[in-house]
Amino acid sequence: MVKVLICGGGNGAHVWAGIAASQPGVESRVLTIFADEAERWTNAMKESDFTVIVHSRGEEPTKLTTKPTIVSKDPAAVMDGIDIICFALPAFAHDSYLQALKPFARPGLVLAGVPGQPGFEFAIHGIWGTVALQCSILSFESLPWACRIVEFGKTVEVLGTKDTLLGAVTIGSTVPSMEPTAMLQATLGPLPKLTTTGHILGITLMAGLNGVVHPTIMHGRWHNWDGKPLDEPPLFYNGLDRPSANLMSDMSDEIVATAKAIMQQRPQVDLTNVIHIYQWFMRSYYDDIADKTDLYTTFHTNKAYQGLTHPTTQTEDGKYMPNFKHRYLTEDIAYGLLVVRGIATIAGLATPNMDKIIMWAQSCLDQEFLKDGQMTGKDIDKTRCPQKYTLNTLDQILGHA
Ligand code: NAI
Repeated sequence: MVKVLICGGGNGAHVWAGIAASQPGVESRVLTIFADEAERWTNAMKESDFTVIVHSRGEEPTKLTTKPTIVSKDPAAVMDGIDIICFALPAFAHDSYLQALKPFARPGLVLAGVPGQPGFEFAIHGIWGTVALQCSILSFESLPWACRIVEFGKTVEVLGTKDTLLGAVTIGSTVPSMEPTAMLQATLGPLPKLTTTGHILGITLMAGLNGVVHPTIMHGRWHNWDGKPLDEPPLFYNGLDRPSANLMSDMSDEIVATAKAIMQQRPQVDLTNVIHIYQWFMRSYYDDIADKTDLYTTFHTNKAYQGLTHPTTQTEDGKYMPNFKHRYLTEDIAYGLLVVRGIATIAGLATPNMDKIIMWAQSCLDQEFLKDGQMTGKDIDKTRCPQKYTLNTLDQILGHA
């Protein structure tokens, strides 16, 4: 029997709670500490079935109607006997769950971030302290499903399920009751097929690519903007200019160099899962890209990106202004680029290209992360960089100390 605790109350948590409950030998419980979600979800399930509608290509949709055994906002009510804690949440919400769960942290637990997003393991080590070294940690690059809630606590729809999902695992010093990847797979069923390779820090460095892509596109379009409202929101990915494509490539080189520097200093650490952004696109979107010449053409001819526009706000007279409060600048800097910048610093690498984007973004956000080239700005606590959790050595960020 695997007892899984799903953390969160959004789209992914809804799907996972239902799918896990329908797997043989799995008990599914939910912890959602946000607002009144637990109460609303519990009440909704009293009134009716809990249904996951699963769409699969070329097949009739299937309906799962198995409920989680409990949905609560109280960790004490759900943690008894739990084998694995799964996070299906935006990264900014992880800390509050780890704080709430800390009194129940015990050796041998498995924690899975699906997606983990940059620095998932830093948050666990930083908040749980030494007991985290006795736990196993899994981090995956994305959520298994494209999904959305139809009716809160009652119905959720899976629009698509990934065939495979890439991640990495760190086994804690207290071995869990079952191999962690197999345990996680048991909660999901056959798809997506989970694959783990390399060190978990590699997943963090690769997840940092959102922090490379989105803020750099924003910078390219807006750093010389004259401040006048626009008639139309400009194209986002398709509006990328060549200097920004080059800058993105240079930032990605800095990430790959960081991985290499760490592998030189710690030859037993496998970060070969860290690849250049162009290679990542070729791996993830090969069939969707019409012109694969370089990174610039990759963005301009990627089917998945056609027609998407910059985040904007509308003025009273119907014109458009850039939205610098959008997650492309807020989350992707604080929970993306700054995480990889913090790792590069610990690895002893200079990152002039990342710093250029961070300096511009922090001025747009009216926050301070970098100060005199150091990760010591007054708002560093609002990020997920290792320095925030006083993880300042290679051994600490590798989970060895
Ligand atoms: P969501 O947007 O549905 O999550 C919202 C939930 O997060 C809320 O219901 C609440 O439980 C929690 N939350 C929000 N603000 C909070 C706060 N201040 N404190 C504590 N909890 C808070 O997220 P979703 O769609 O389930 O996605 C989870 C992750 O997976 C995200 O990082 C998302 O980018 C990623 N993802 C989602 C996909 C999808 O189709 N939904 C597809 C691929 C990735």
